[in-house]
Amino acid sequence: MSAADEMSIIGLAGKVALVTGGGAGIGRATAELFAQAGMRVAVAEIDAERAGEVRDALEKTGCDALVVEADVRKGDEVRRLIEAVDSRFGRLDVLVNNVGDYLGFKTEFVESDEDQWQALYEVNLLHMFHVTKAAIPLMRRSGKGGSIVNLSTVEAFRGIPLTVAYAAFKSAITGFTQSLAVEVGQHGIRVNAVAPETTNSAQITATSRVPPENREYLKRWFPIGRFGEGADSAGAVLYLASDRLSGWVSGTTVVVDGGALAAGAWMRMQDNGWTHLPIIVADGYTPRGDK
Ligand SMILES: NC(=O)c1ccc[n+]([C@@H]2O[C@H](COP(=O)([O-])OP(=O)(O)OC[C@H]3O[C@@H](n4cnc5c(N)ncnc54)[C@H](O)[C@@H]3O)[C@@H](O)[C@H]2O)c1
Repeated sequence: MSAADEMSIIGLAGKVALVTGGGAGIGRATAELFAQAGMRVAVAEIDAERAGEVRDALEKTGCDALVVEADVRKGDEVRRLIEAVDSRFGRLDVLVNNVGDYLGFKTEFVESDEDQWQALYEVNLLHMFHVTKAAIPLMRRSGKGGSIVNLSTVEAFRGIPLTVAYAAFKSAITGFTQSLAVEVGQHGIRVNAVAPETTNSAQITATSRVPPENREYLKRWFPIGRFGEGADSAGAVLYLASDRLSGWVSGTTVVVDGGALAAGAWMRMQDNGWTHLPIIVADGYTPRGDK
């Protein structure tokens, strides 16, 4: 099959996407995959250096790219962002609300405070309200169709210790996604979420945090045997972005986790620390060959 045939199956060539937080990690992988699919790509990025890097990377591929330095937690910056997309492309077909962060807060909930909750709210949920509200009128003016994809986390679907408030705001994305899908379906706009497990990115340096002698356990914990990469989630976003591939999929979440959610969750160790990497050979009831 030729590259042109592959592109026409996806059906996104020439369409316009906006990816928030597209300067690193999953957002950047998504912006680059959209460019590969022939899309015109706008990126909103708070970090000037990352904005410059993704601009260079997209332009090198020949993509018609617009990179706007903006803090998507702020309503006035978001209005400026959507105006810039409108004046450059005159339309918007796909919005990826990718910004999100646990902000390095890892404490028991009783130790967390209101400043942390507010910061986690703004970076995980509030920006989605600002960007989505500003983007929908432009999406509607672009004709029937369109796709909104929100970055959630697998932790919205299971319990996680020490980042309780982060997980709570990510869980709220499920409700936002479902209810908005019900409202905007009448305009042909679909709303879905992608929920990754631990993925190597700018904020999570997953593989290097596991001591080399313990990396063997990754194969035991993840059915697919490894942490995620940005491209893993980007592939799911591309599927949900394409009306041709997922035109009847709305209000749902694609979990991108190497099978981990199906396999299990976090465990407390003897020293009271937490792990999600199995450390004990026997489980007490499964017969083993030598016992
Ligand atoms: N990496 C993981 O393990 C993982 C797991 C589950 C869910 N997620 C979710 O996936 C999404 C992407 O995560 P990632 O790990 O790729 O992130 P990342 O930190 O690698 O990249 C996020 C980008 O967003 C930018 N950004 C941050 N705040 C911004 C703001 N207010 N306005 C504009 N840009 C801003 C950052 O500068 C950065 O370039 C997030 O929603 C995250 O919660 C990530």
